[in-house]
Amino acid sequence: MNHFLDLADSSREQIVELLALADRLQTRPEPQALAGKILGLLFFNPSLRTLASMQAAMAKLGGTSFVVTAGQGTWQFETRRGAVMNGAPAEHVREGVPVLSHYCDAVGIRAFASGTDLDTDLSESAFRDMAGLVSKPVINLESAINHPCQALADWKTLDDLKVPRKAKFVLSWANHPRALPLAVPAATVHMAAMRGMDVVVLRPEGFALPGAIMRKAMEAAAANGGTVRETADRDDALNGAHIVYAKEWGSTTHYGNAEADANLRAKLADWCVRDTWFSTAAADCKLMHCLPVRRNVAVADEVLDGKRSVVQREAYNRMVVQAAVLHRLLSTPQH
Ligand code: CP
Repeated sequence: MNHFLDLADSSREQIVELLALADRLQTRPEPQALAGKILGLLFFNPSLRTLASMQAAMAKLGGTSFVVTAGQGTWQFETRRGAVMNGAPAEHVREGVPVLSHYCDAVGIRAFASGTDLDTDLSESAFRDMAGLVSKPVINLESAINHPCQALADWKTLDDLKVPRKAKFVLSWANHPRALPLAVPAATVHMAAMRGMDVVVLRPEGFALPGAIMRKAMEAAAANGGTVRETADRDDALNGAHIVYAKEWGSTTHYGNAEADANLRAKLADWCVRDTWFSTAAADCKLMHCLPVRRNVAVADEVLDGKRSVVQREAYNRMVVQAAVLHRLLSTPQH
């Protein structure tokens, strides 16, 4: 493994091996495995879990890390190709990113979607441009349309909970005051399909996942014995569900149009996951969410504070699986 950019770059068997390494490091820690190694973390967007869990994972393996928050204590970065840099940004990523990579052994980058043009965001061009500037291993800490570290942690959470491979996995749209990126829903639907689950994407009209995201998930499902479908019928989706994975995302019919998106979501306040959503679900159905979550907008207190919620385990597993990713990318094989 040279980079960690997308679960789709690996086979199901390789992901299962990576999760086995995560389990091994959990039970038999290797506190010197990455002694002397340095991880550089470059954030263009805020984070709590990703930032803290990457640093913690690196420290647990004996390595160290530094964090650069773009524009905060650094020069402001320009990212556009061909930009005439006579405004506020003083440094282009074409210089800044390779410079940072000189100081470390691997680079993690978080750079969200622009949220203005769907095709551009689906192409991942901004993230791929930056990753292409680095000659060291690159870890995707959330790009326009992917969040592989979250997806890997969620796969481990499903395994920890002994959720059967063929269980019904419902990725449900949830309410939020404004449009959020497609990275987590895209990564989640693909992860559950690649795990071989029966995946239902539940969303109101106007929020269908783009064809490219659904096709990728359907291909993963076909290769691994799963299924993927999409519906706006909540009763149909939740009936018999083993997992409800709540996630907020922006309208795809009005992508980049904040006013039209807001008009649509103004009528969708009942898309807040409540206990009543689980009345026809499997008895032990769990609630997943990547966090952060808006309480009583996306998910009600009664669910987040109840026995169904596994959000803390998901967050904990971020550190566990990222340790495996770092180990795989940076450890020296023992002969
Ligand atoms: N789930 C997740 O990536 O959290 P942060 O945005 O806080 O890193």
